[in-house]
Amino acid sequence: MVNSQGFPPIREGFSVLTLLKTLPNRGNLPTRVPSCNVPAIILLGSQWGDEGKGKATDLLGGRVDYVVRYQGGNNAGHTVVIGDQKFALHLLPSGILTPEVIPVIGNGVVIDPAVLLQEMRGLNERNVDTSKLLISANAHLITPYHVTLDKVSERFLGNSKIGTTGRGIGPTYADKISRIGIRVQDLFDESILRQKVEGALLSKNQVLVKVYNRRALEVDAIVESLLEYAEALAPYVVDTALVLNKALDLNKVVLLEGGQGTLLDVDHGTYPYVTSSNPTAGGACTGSGIGPTRIDRTIGILKAYTTRVGSGPFPTELFDADGERLRTIGGEVGTTTGRARRCGWFDAPIAKFATRINGLTDTFLTKLDVLTGFDRIPVCVAYDVDGTRMEELPMTQTGFHHAKPIYEDLPGWTEDISNARSIEDLPANARSYVQFLEDISGTRISAIGVGQDRDATISLHDLIA
Ligand code: GDP
Ligand code: IMO
Ligand code: MG
Repeated sequence: MVNSQGFPPIREGFSVLTLLKTLPNRGNLPTRVPSCNVPAIILLGSQWGDEGKGKATDLLGGRVDYVVRYQGGNNAGHTVVIGDQKFALHLLPSGILTPEVIPVIGNGVVIDPAVLLQEMRGLNERNVDTSKLLISANAHLITPYHVTLDKVSERFLGNSKIGTTGRGIGPTYADKISRIGIRVQDLFDESILRQKVEGALLSKNQVLVKVYNRRALEVDAIVESLLEYAEALAPYVVDTALVLNKALDLNKVVLLEGGQGTLLDVDHGTYPYVTSSNPTAGGACTGSGIGPTRIDRTIGILKAYTTRVGSGPFPTELFDADGERLRTIGGEVGTTTGRARRCGWFDAPIAKFATRINGLTDTFLTKLDVLTGFDRIPVCVAYDVDGTRMEELPMTQTGFHHAKPIYEDLPGWTEDISNARSIEDLPANARSYVQFLEDISGTRISAIGVGQDRDATISLHDLIA
Protein backbone atom coordinates (compact mmCIF):
# COMPACT_ATOMS: atom_id res chain seq x y z
CA MET A 1 0.00 0.00 0.00
CA VAL A 2 1.36 3.50 -0.82
CA ASN A 3 0.16 6.99 0.02
CA SER A 4 -0.25 9.91 -2.38
CA GLN A 5 3.50 10.58 -2.44
CA GLY A 6 4.21 6.99 -3.32
CA PHE A 7 5.64 6.14 0.10
CA PRO A 8 4.26 3.35 2.24
CA PRO A 9 2.24 4.86 5.14
CA ILE A 10 4.21 5.03 8.39
CA ARG A 11 1.52 3.21 10.40
CA GLU A 12 1.98 0.16 8.17
CA GLY A 13 5.42 -0.42 9.73
CA PHE A 14 7.51 1.64 7.34
CA SER A 15 10.49 3.34 8.93
CA VAL A 16 11.24 7.02 8.31
CA LEU A 17 14.85 6.13 9.03
CA THR A 18 14.82 3.79 6.02
CA LEU A 19 13.26 6.53 3.92
CA LEU A 20 15.81 9.15 4.94
CA LYS A 21 18.73 6.82 4.33
CA THR A 22 17.62 6.81 0.69
CA LEU A 23 17.62 10.62 0.52
CA PRO A 24 20.73 12.73 -0.17
CA ASN A 25 22.34 14.28 2.93
CA ARG A 26 21.24 17.91 3.03
CA GLY A 27 24.31 20.03 3.82
CA ASN A 28 25.04 20.28 7.52
CA LEU A 29 21.75 18.91 8.75
CA PRO A 30 22.18 16.08 11.21
CA THR A 31 21.65 12.71 9.58
CA ARG A 32 20.23 11.17 12.76
CA VAL A 33 16.46 11.26 12.70
CA PRO A 34 14.05 10.40 15.45
CA SER A 35 12.48 6.98 15.46
CA CYS A 36 9.14 7.01 13.69
CA ASN A 37 7.50 4.57 16.08
CA VAL A 38 6.60 7.66 18.14
CA PRO A 39 5.64 5.73 21.20
CA ALA A 40 4.56 8.55 23.52
CA ILE A 41 0.96 8.30 24.68
CA ILE A 42 -1.10 10.78 26.65
CA LEU A 43 -3.72 9.63 29.13
CA LEU A 44 -5.92 12.38 30.56
CA GLY A 45 -9.27 13.14 32.15
CA SER A 46 -12.11 14.12 29.81
CA GLN A 47 -14.39 15.70 32.44
CA TRP A 48 -13.78 17.37 35.82
CA GLY A 49 -11.28 14.84 37.17
CA ASP A 50 -11.73 11.57 39.05
CA GLU A 51 -12.67 9.70 35.88
CA GLY A 52 -10.49 6.72 36.81
CA LYS A 53 -7.15 7.82 35.35
CA GLY A 54 -5.24 5.96 38.08
CA LYS A 55 -6.82 2.63 37.25
CA ALA A 56 -6.32 3.13 33.52
CA THR A 57 -2.66 4.10 33.91
CA ASP A 58 -2.01 1.17 36.21
CA LEU A 59 -3.68 -1.15 33.73
CA LEU A 60 -1.35 -0.05 30.94
CA GLY A 61 1.66 -0.05 33.28
CA GLY A 62 2.77 -3.54 32.29
CA ARG A 63 3.24 -2.44 28.68
CA VAL A 64 5.03 0.87 29.04
CA ASP A 65 8.55 1.80 30.08
CA TYR A 66 7.98 5.23 31.64
CA VAL A 67 4.93 6.84 33.27
CA VAL A 68 5.19 10.62 33.61
CA ARG A 69 3.02 13.03 35.61
CA TYR A 70 3.11 16.27 33.59
CA GLN A 71 1.11 18.81 35.63
CA GLY A 72 -0.77 19.38 38.86
CA GLY A 73 0.48 18.24 42.22
CA ASN A 74 -0.97 16.61 45.29
CA ASN A 75 -4.39 18.04 44.45
CA ALA A 76 -4.71 14.80 42.45
CA GLY A 77 -6.01 11.64 44.06
CA HIS A 78 -5.72 8.50 41.98
CA THR A 79 -7.08 5.28 43.44
CA VAL A 80 -5.72 2.00 42.18
CA VAL A 81 -7.12 -1.34 43.29
CA ILE A 82 -5.06 -4.47 42.74
CA GLY A 83 -6.72 -7.56 44.16
CA ASP A 84 -7.43 -6.84 47.83
CA GLN A 85 -4.93 -3.94 47.94
CA LYS A 86 -6.01 -0.32 47.53
CA PHE A 87 -3.54 2.49 46.83
CA ALA A 88 -4.25 6.23 46.87
CA LEU A 89 -1.62 8.14 44.87
CA HIS A 90 -1.28 11.92 44.88
CA LEU A 91 2.04 13.00 43.42
CA LEU A 92 3.56 9.77 42.22
CA PRO A 93 2.52 8.56 38.77
CA SER A 94 0.18 5.57 38.91
CA GLY A 95 2.79 3.53 37.01
CA ILE A 96 4.79 3.32 40.24
CA LEU A 97 2.84 0.18 41.13
CA THR A 98 4.34 -1.72 38.19
CA PRO A 99 7.89 -2.78 39.13
CA GLU A 100 9.29 -2.51 35.58
CA VAL A 101 8.03 1.05 35.02
CA ILE A 102 10.24 4.09 35.56
CA PRO A 103 8.02 6.71 37.21
CA VAL A 104 8.74 10.34 36.38
CA ILE A 105 7.59 13.62 37.90
CA GLY A 106 7.89 16.08 35.03
CA ASN A 107 8.83 19.75 34.99
CA GLY A 108 5.16 20.81 34.80
CA VAL A 109 4.33 19.34 38.20
CA VAL A 110 4.35 21.31 41.46
CA ILE A 111 5.87 19.31 44.30
CA ASP A 112 5.25 19.55 48.01
CA PRO A 113 8.44 17.81 49.15
CA ALA A 114 7.03 16.75 52.52
CA VAL A 115 4.04 15.12 50.83
CA LEU A 116 6.21 13.43 48.21
CA LEU A 117 8.57 11.89 50.74
CA GLN A 118 5.66 10.80 52.91
CA GLU A 119 3.95 9.17 49.91
CA MET A 120 7.16 7.37 49.00
CA ARG A 121 7.61 6.14 52.59
CA GLY A 122 4.00 4.94 52.68
CA LEU A 123 4.54 2.88 49.54
CA ASN A 124 7.88 1.51 50.75
CA GLU A 125 6.13 0.29 53.91
CA ARG A 126 3.81 -1.66 51.62
CA ASN A 127 6.78 -3.12 49.73
CA VAL A 128 6.39 -0.90 46.67
CA ASP A 129 9.80 0.11 45.32
CA THR A 130 10.14 3.84 44.65
CA SER A 131 13.89 3.87 44.01
CA LYS A 132 13.54 4.29 40.25
CA LEU A 133 11.62 7.57 40.57
CA LEU A 134 12.96 10.48 38.48
CA ILE A 135 12.14 14.06 39.44
CA SER A 136 12.60 17.04 37.15
CA ALA A 137 15.09 19.63 38.36
CA ASN A 138 12.75 22.25 36.85
CA ALA A 139 9.60 21.26 38.75
CA HIS A 140 8.43 23.97 41.15
CA LEU A 141 8.18 23.48 44.90
CA ILE A 142 5.10 24.05 47.01
CA THR A 143 6.25 25.71 50.24
CA PRO A 144 4.28 26.25 53.45
CA TYR A 145 3.52 29.85 52.38
CA HIS A 146 1.81 28.60 49.24
CA VAL A 147 -0.42 26.35 51.30
CA THR A 148 -1.21 29.21 53.69
CA LEU A 149 -2.03 31.56 50.82
CA ASP A 150 -4.27 28.96 49.16
CA LYS A 151 -6.29 28.59 52.34
CA VAL A 152 -6.56 32.26 53.30
CA SER A 153 -7.39 33.43 49.78
CA GLU A 154 -10.22 30.88 49.61
CA ARG A 155 -11.53 32.10 52.95
CA PHE A 156 -11.50 35.68 51.69
CA LEU A 157 -13.44 34.74 48.56
CA GLY A 158 -16.38 33.64 50.73
CA ASN A 159 -19.27 32.44 48.55
CA SER A 160 -17.19 32.90 45.40
CA LYS A 161 -14.52 30.46 46.56
CA ILE A 162 -13.14 27.96 44.03
CA GLY A 163 -13.31 25.07 46.48
CA THR A 164 -9.63 24.26 45.98
CA THR A 165 -8.00 21.26 47.59
CA GLY A 166 -6.05 23.67 49.83
CA ARG A 167 -2.73 22.13 48.85
CA GLY A 168 -1.06 25.35 47.66
CA ILE A 169 -1.41 24.52 43.97
CA GLY A 170 -2.72 27.88 42.66
CA PRO A 171 -0.24 30.10 44.55
CA THR A 172 2.69 27.91 43.45
CA TYR A 173 1.74 28.10 39.77
CA ALA A 174 1.11 31.84 40.19
CA ASP A 175 4.70 32.26 41.46
CA LYS A 176 6.01 30.15 38.59
CA ILE A 177 4.35 32.45 36.06
CA SER A 178 5.42 35.53 38.03
CA ARG A 179 9.00 34.20 37.94
CA ILE A 180 9.39 34.15 41.70
CA GLY A 181 8.99 30.40 42.15
CA ILE A 182 11.40 28.03 43.88
CA ARG A 183 12.44 25.01 41.83
CA VAL A 184 13.73 21.59 42.81
CA GLN A 185 17.22 22.51 41.55
CA ASP A 186 17.34 25.47 43.97
CA LEU A 187 17.52 23.01 46.87
CA PHE A 188 21.08 22.20 45.84
CA ASP A 189 22.47 25.73 45.99
CA GLU A 190 21.89 27.31 49.38
CA SER A 191 22.81 30.86 48.42
CA ILE A 192 20.55 30.82 45.35
CA LEU A 193 17.77 29.29 47.44
CA ARG A 194 18.12 32.04 50.04
CA GLN A 195 18.10 34.77 47.37
CA LYS A 196 14.97 33.32 45.82
CA VAL A 197 13.12 32.88 49.09
CA GLU A 198 14.07 36.45 50.08
CA GLY A 199 12.76 37.73 46.77
CA ALA A 200 9.51 35.82 47.06
CA LEU A 201 8.87 36.82 50.67
CA LEU A 202 9.25 40.51 49.89
CA SER A 203 5.84 40.50 48.29
CA LYS A 204 4.36 37.48 50.13
CA ASN A 205 4.88 39.05 53.54
CA GLN A 206 3.24 42.29 52.43
CA VAL A 207 0.20 40.33 51.31
CA LEU A 208 0.11 38.02 54.33
CA VAL A 209 0.41 40.86 56.84
CA LYS A 210 -1.49 43.70 55.20
CA VAL A 211 -4.21 41.84 53.31
CA TYR A 212 -4.75 38.65 55.24
CA ASN A 213 -3.74 39.82 58.69
CA ARG A 214 -1.26 36.97 59.19
CA ARG A 215 2.23 36.93 60.68
CA ALA A 216 5.21 37.63 58.38
CA LEU A 217 7.35 34.62 57.48
CA GLU A 218 11.07 34.38 58.27
CA VAL A 219 13.47 33.76 55.39
CA ASP A 220 15.75 31.59 57.56
CA ALA A 221 12.98 29.33 58.73
CA ILE A 222 11.72 28.73 55.18
CA VAL A 223 15.21 28.15 53.79
CA GLU A 224 16.07 25.71 56.57
CA SER A 225 12.87 23.76 56.18
CA LEU A 226 13.44 23.45 52.42
CA LEU A 227 17.08 22.41 52.81
CA GLU A 228 15.95 19.52 54.99
CA TYR A 229 14.54 17.85 51.87
CA ALA A 230 17.59 18.35 49.67
CA GLU A 231 19.48 15.24 50.71
CA ALA A 232 16.46 12.97 50.52
CA LEU A 233 15.44 14.18 47.06
CA ALA A 234 18.90 14.51 45.48
CA PRO A 235 19.24 10.89 44.22
CA TYR A 236 16.09 11.24 42.13
CA VAL A 237 16.65 14.61 40.48
CA VAL A 238 17.61 14.59 36.79
CA ASP A 239 16.96 16.40 33.53
CA THR A 240 13.77 14.44 32.90
CA ALA A 241 13.12 15.97 29.44
CA LEU A 242 16.53 14.71 28.31
CA VAL A 243 15.97 11.26 29.79
CA LEU A 244 12.54 10.93 28.21
CA ASN A 245 13.60 12.08 24.76
CA LYS A 246 16.55 9.70 24.82
CA ALA A 247 14.22 6.91 25.87
CA LEU A 248 11.97 7.72 22.91
CA ASP A 249 15.02 7.59 20.63
CA LEU A 250 15.46 4.01 21.84
CA ASN A 251 11.81 3.20 21.10
CA LYS A 252 10.84 3.02 24.75
CA VAL A 253 7.15 3.57 25.43
CA VAL A 254 6.36 6.69 27.45
CA LEU A 255 2.93 7.23 28.98
CA LEU A 256 2.12 10.80 29.99
CA GLU A 257 -0.44 10.76 32.80
CA GLY A 258 -2.57 13.84 33.42
CA GLY A 259 -3.96 14.92 36.75
CA GLN A 260 -7.39 16.59 37.05
CA GLY A 261 -9.41 16.82 33.81
CA THR A 262 -10.17 18.80 30.67
CA LEU A 263 -12.78 21.07 32.26
CA LEU A 264 -10.41 21.92 35.11
CA ASP A 265 -7.84 23.23 32.60
CA VAL A 266 -6.89 26.85 33.29
CA ASP A 267 -7.22 27.75 29.58
CA HIS A 268 -10.01 25.49 28.34
CA GLY A 269 -11.97 24.63 31.47
CA THR A 270 -14.78 26.31 33.38
CA TYR A 271 -12.60 29.26 34.41
CA PRO A 272 -12.27 30.50 37.15
CA TYR A 273 -13.52 27.24 38.68
CA VAL A 274 -10.49 25.34 37.46
CA THR A 275 -7.08 24.24 38.64
CA SER A 276 -4.03 26.36 37.82
CA SER A 277 -2.39 24.13 35.21
CA ASN A 278 -3.08 22.51 31.82
CA PRO A 279 -4.33 18.94 32.20
CA THR A 280 -5.27 18.96 28.49
CA ALA A 281 -3.08 17.34 25.84
CA GLY A 282 -1.01 20.46 25.17
CA GLY A 283 0.07 20.48 28.81
CA ALA A 284 1.62 17.05 28.32
CA CYS A 285 4.21 18.54 25.95
CA THR A 286 5.14 21.57 28.04
CA GLY A 287 4.99 19.59 31.27
CA SER A 288 7.31 16.84 30.11
CA GLY A 289 9.54 18.40 27.45
CA ILE A 290 8.34 15.95 24.81
CA GLY A 291 7.41 17.58 21.50
CA PRO A 292 4.00 17.00 19.89
CA THR A 293 5.49 15.09 16.94
CA ARG A 294 6.60 12.36 19.33
CA ILE A 295 3.09 11.66 20.59
CA ASP A 296 0.78 9.53 18.53
CA ARG A 297 -1.99 8.57 20.91
CA THR A 298 -4.18 10.56 23.26
CA ILE A 299 -6.52 8.56 25.45
CA GLY A 300 -9.38 10.35 27.22
CA ILE A 301 -10.70 8.78 30.40
CA LEU A 302 -14.45 9.35 30.45
CA LYS A 303 -16.81 8.38 33.24
CA ALA A 304 -20.16 6.90 32.16
CA TYR A 305 -21.79 9.72 34.18
CA THR A 306 -20.38 13.01 35.49
CA THR A 307 -18.85 14.16 38.78
CA ARG A 308 -17.22 17.33 40.01
CA VAL A 309 -15.58 18.42 43.29
CA GLY A 310 -15.50 22.03 44.43
CA SER A 311 -17.45 25.00 43.09
CA GLY A 312 -18.51 25.93 39.58
CA PRO A 313 -21.23 25.25 37.03
CA PHE A 314 -22.36 21.67 36.39
CA PRO A 315 -25.38 21.50 34.05
CA THR A 316 -26.34 17.84 34.65
CA GLU A 317 -25.88 17.91 38.43
CA LEU A 318 -28.50 15.90 40.32
CA PHE A 319 -29.86 16.90 43.71
CA ASP A 320 -32.23 13.96 44.04
CA ALA A 321 -32.17 10.27 44.92
CA ASP A 322 -30.54 9.40 41.56
CA GLY A 323 -27.60 11.69 42.40
CA GLU A 324 -27.31 10.13 45.83
CA ARG A 325 -27.38 6.68 44.28
CA LEU A 326 -24.55 7.52 41.85
CA ARG A 327 -22.54 8.88 44.77
CA THR A 328 -23.11 5.83 46.96
CA ILE A 329 -22.70 3.10 44.34
CA GLY A 330 -19.89 4.92 42.56
CA GLY A 331 -18.05 5.60 45.85
CA GLU A 332 -17.88 9.25 44.82
CA VAL A 333 -15.91 10.66 47.71
CA GLY A 334 -12.72 12.64 47.06
CA THR A 335 -9.50 10.61 47.33
CA THR A 336 -7.56 13.71 48.41
CA THR A 337 -9.94 15.77 50.54
CA GLY A 338 -12.66 13.28 51.46
CA ARG A 339 -15.29 15.69 50.11
CA ALA A 340 -18.49 14.18 48.65
CA ARG A 341 -18.33 14.56 44.86
CA ARG A 342 -21.22 16.27 43.09
CA CYS A 343 -22.86 13.76 40.73
CA GLY A 344 -24.92 14.02 37.54
CA TRP A 345 -25.80 12.33 34.25
CA PHE A 346 -23.48 12.00 31.28
CA ASP A 347 -22.94 15.26 29.42
CA ALA A 348 -22.29 14.80 25.69
CA PRO A 349 -21.28 18.40 24.86
CA ILE A 350 -18.49 17.99 27.44
CA ALA A 351 -17.37 14.68 25.91
CA LYS A 352 -17.33 16.24 22.42
CA PHE A 353 -15.36 19.18 23.76
CA ALA A 354 -12.78 16.87 25.35
CA THR A 355 -12.44 14.99 22.05
CA ARG A 356 -11.77 18.22 20.20
CA ILE A 357 -9.54 20.09 22.65
CA ASN A 358 -7.31 17.08 23.24
CA GLY A 359 -7.43 15.55 19.76
CA LEU A 360 -8.41 12.27 21.39
CA THR A 361 -7.68 9.08 19.49
CA ASP A 362 -9.31 6.78 22.04
CA THR A 363 -11.67 6.86 24.96
CA PHE A 364 -11.59 4.63 28.03
CA LEU A 365 -15.15 4.63 29.36
CA THR A 366 -15.14 3.99 33.12
CA LYS A 367 -17.66 3.00 35.78
CA LEU A 368 -20.32 1.61 33.46
CA ASP A 369 -21.16 -0.86 36.25
CA VAL A 370 -22.33 2.02 38.47
CA LEU A 371 -25.30 2.61 36.13
CA THR A 372 -26.64 -0.93 36.57
CA GLY A 373 -30.17 -0.92 37.98
CA PHE A 374 -31.44 2.45 36.71
CA ASP A 375 -34.69 1.96 34.68
CA ARG A 376 -33.73 4.74 32.32
CA ILE A 377 -30.49 6.60 31.94
CA PRO A 378 -30.76 10.20 30.75
CA VAL A 379 -27.92 11.50 28.59
CA CYS A 380 -27.53 15.24 28.10
CA VAL A 381 -27.30 15.64 24.31
CA ALA A 382 -27.42 19.44 24.16
CA TYR A 383 -28.14 22.49 26.30
CA ASP A 384 -30.93 24.99 26.38
CA VAL A 385 -29.16 28.31 26.88
CA ASP A 386 -31.70 31.08 27.43
CA GLY A 387 -34.08 29.48 24.92
CA THR A 388 -31.48 28.49 22.30
CA ARG A 389 -30.51 24.85 21.74
CA MET A 390 -26.72 24.43 21.81
CA GLU A 391 -24.92 21.22 20.86
CA GLU A 392 -21.54 22.55 22.03
CA LEU A 393 -20.27 24.24 25.19
CA PRO A 394 -21.41 27.87 25.32
CA MET A 395 -18.64 30.33 24.52
CA THR A 396 -19.02 32.40 27.70
CA GLN A 397 -19.00 31.66 31.41
CA THR A 398 -22.46 33.22 31.71
CA GLY A 399 -23.76 30.96 28.93
CA PHE A 400 -22.41 27.90 30.73
CA HIS A 401 -23.99 29.00 34.01
CA HIS A 402 -27.34 29.33 32.20
CA ALA A 403 -27.07 25.98 30.35
CA LYS A 404 -29.96 23.62 31.10
CA PRO A 405 -29.51 20.01 29.98
CA ILE A 406 -31.65 18.61 27.20
CA TYR A 407 -31.90 14.90 27.86
CA GLU A 408 -32.47 11.84 25.77
CA ASP A 409 -33.48 8.83 27.87
CA LEU A 410 -31.83 5.50 27.20
CA PRO A 411 -33.17 2.23 28.57
CA GLY A 412 -31.25 0.79 31.53
CA TRP A 413 -30.30 -2.77 32.48
CA THR A 414 -30.50 -4.79 35.66
CA GLU A 415 -27.95 -7.55 35.05
CA ASP A 416 -24.70 -7.41 37.07
CA ILE A 417 -22.00 -6.50 34.52
CA SER A 418 -19.01 -6.50 36.85
CA ASN A 419 -17.80 -9.84 35.51
CA ALA A 420 -18.16 -8.87 31.86
CA ARG A 421 -14.83 -9.14 30.05
CA SER A 422 -15.97 -8.83 26.46
CA ILE A 423 -18.54 -6.60 24.80
CA GLU A 424 -20.73 -9.66 24.15
CA ASP A 425 -20.99 -10.19 27.92
CA LEU A 426 -22.87 -6.89 28.27
CA PRO A 427 -26.68 -6.81 28.13
CA ALA A 428 -28.08 -5.27 24.93
CA ASN A 429 -29.10 -2.03 26.66
CA ALA A 430 -25.63 -1.53 28.13
CA ARG A 431 -24.12 -2.06 24.69
CA SER A 432 -26.56 0.47 23.21
CA TYR A 433 -25.60 2.96 25.91
CA VAL A 434 -21.90 2.56 25.08
CA GLN A 435 -22.60 2.85 21.35
CA PHE A 436 -24.67 6.00 21.93
CA LEU A 437 -21.83 7.61 23.92
CA GLU A 438 -19.28 6.64 21.28
CA ASP A 439 -21.37 8.11 18.46
CA ILE A 440 -22.11 11.34 20.27
CA SER A 441 -18.65 11.95 21.75
CA GLY A 442 -16.87 11.43 18.44
CA THR A 443 -14.04 9.18 19.65
CA ARG A 444 -13.92 5.43 19.53
CA ILE A 445 -14.38 3.71 22.87
CA SER A 446 -11.43 1.37 23.21
CA ALA A 447 -11.94 0.09 26.74
CA ILE A 448 -14.79 -0.09 29.25
CA GLY A 449 -14.41 -0.23 33.02
CA VAL A 450 -16.89 -2.44 34.87
CA GLY A 451 -15.36 -2.41 38.35
CA GLN A 452 -12.57 -0.99 40.50
CA ASP A 453 -10.11 -3.78 40.00
CA ARG A 454 -7.38 -3.66 37.35
CA ASP A 455 -8.95 -6.70 35.66
CA ALA A 456 -12.51 -5.41 35.64
CA THR A 457 -12.13 -4.06 32.13
CA ILE A 458 -13.46 -4.84 28.67
CA SER A 459 -10.89 -4.22 25.97
CA LEU A 460 -12.17 -3.30 22.50
CA HIS A 461 -9.09 -1.84 20.79
CA ASP A 462 -5.47 -2.07 21.87
CA LEU A 463 -4.54 1.21 23.61
CA ILE A 464 -0.80 0.86 23.09
CA ALA A 465 0.02 -0.96 19.86
P1 GDP B 1 -8.67 9.58 39.04
O1 GDP B 1 -8.41 10.78 39.88
O2 GDP B 1 -9.10 9.91 37.65
O3 GDP B 1 -7.55 8.58 39.07
O4 GDP B 1 -9.93 8.86 39.70
P2 GDP B 1 -10.14 8.54 41.26
O5 GDP B 1 -9.24 7.43 41.63
O6 GDP B 1 -10.09 9.79 42.06
O7 GDP B 1 -11.65 8.10 41.25
C1 GDP B 1 -12.11 7.03 40.48
C2 GDP B 1 -12.65 5.94 41.40
O8 GDP B 1 -13.37 5.01 40.63
C3 GDP B 1 -11.56 5.14 42.11
O9 GDP B 1 -12.04 4.75 43.38
C4 GDP B 1 -11.39 3.92 41.21
O10 GDP B 1 -10.94 2.77 41.92
C5 GDP B 1 -12.81 3.71 40.74
N1 GDP B 1 -12.94 3.12 39.42
C6 GDP B 1 -12.18 3.31 38.31
N2 GDP B 1 -12.71 2.65 37.26
C7 GDP B 1 -13.84 2.05 37.72
C8 GDP B 1 -14.85 1.25 37.11
O11 GDP B 1 -14.84 0.97 35.92
N3 GDP B 1 -15.89 0.83 37.92
C9 GDP B 1 -15.95 1.14 39.24
N4 GDP B 1 -17.01 0.70 39.95
N5 GDP B 1 -15.01 1.90 39.84
C10 GDP B 1 -13.98 2.34 39.09
P1 IMO C 1 -7.66 14.05 40.02
O1 IMO C 1 -6.29 13.99 39.42
C1 IMO C 1 -11.19 16.44 40.92
C2 IMO C 1 -10.50 20.70 41.73
C3 IMO C 1 -10.74 21.21 43.13
C4 IMO C 1 -11.21 22.62 42.83
C5 IMO C 1 -10.32 23.01 41.65
C6 IMO C 1 -9.10 23.83 42.01
O2 IMO C 1 -7.85 13.16 41.19
O3 IMO C 1 -8.70 13.89 38.97
P2 IMO C 1 -6.81 23.20 43.18
O4 IMO C 1 -6.52 22.65 44.54
O5 IMO C 1 -6.32 22.36 42.06
O6 IMO C 1 -6.40 24.64 43.05
O7 IMO C 1 -8.42 23.23 43.08
O8 IMO C 1 -9.91 21.79 41.04
N1 IMO C 1 -9.57 19.56 41.64
C7 IMO C 1 -9.94 18.30 41.38
N2 IMO C 1 -11.17 17.77 41.22
N3 IMO C 1 -10.09 15.68 40.78
C8 IMO C 1 -8.86 16.21 40.91
O9 IMO C 1 -7.73 15.54 40.63
C9 IMO C 1 -8.74 17.59 41.26
N4 IMO C 1 -7.70 18.41 41.49
C10 IMO C 1 -8.22 19.63 41.69
O10 IMO C 1 -11.74 20.45 43.79
O11 IMO C 1 -12.54 22.60 42.39
MG1 MG D 1 -9.04 11.60 41.67
